[in-house]
Amino acid sequence: MFKKILYPTDFSELSDKALKYVIRLKEIGTEEVVVIHVIDKRTIKVFSKLYWQEFSITDKTLKEKAQAALTPIEEELKDNGFRVKVLVAEGIPFREILRAEVEEDIIATVIGAHGASNVEEMLLGSVAEKVIRKAQKPVLVIKG
Ligand SMILES: Nc1ncnc2c1ncn2[C@@H]1O[C@H](COP(=O)(O)OP(=O)(O)OP(=O)(O)O)[C@@H](O)[C@H]1O
Ligand SMILES: [Mg+2]
Repeated sequence: MFKKILYPTDFSELSDKALKYVIRLKEIGTEEVVVIHVIDKRTIKVFSKLYWQEFSITDKTLKEKAQAALTPIEEELKDNGFRVKVLVAEGIPFREILRAEVEEDIIATVIGAHGASNVEEMLLGSVAEKVIRKAQKPVLVIKG
């Protein structure tokens, strides 16, 4: 049933925990995982205003860093027998995650309740909340 899963990661601790659950979905027939990291366009804008001359370098560095952080995740999934597609998107995180959900014809999304900011008083981070609210398909939320 859960053949193709979307796994958005911001490389936070809870994202790593969510990966362990993604791997366990193998047991119920998951075959393919689309991993997505979104470089937040708004962060790039702040960078570019502060250091406009170095902007292109900053943009490139962010992409390379993301790619490097995604490689071990891709390998771990492949080692566990999944087909893997890795996406590095640029934009507003929840929008790009929802776009991937539709474009990649995903069956369900596995997401952390929190991410890198991790304000524990909040039930959900803002990205998680928007994805849950607007997703077309089921969302599995991993709590800390
Ligand atoms: N830039 C991103 N790219 C891909 N996935 C993301 C991104 N940001 C968040 N996520 C996903 O959403 C989950 C929840 O993160 P979210 O950003 O909502 O929480 P937060 O960082 O604690 O709060 P906020 O960002 O609202 O301050 C993460 O565990 C991850 O699965
Ligand atoms: Mg966040």
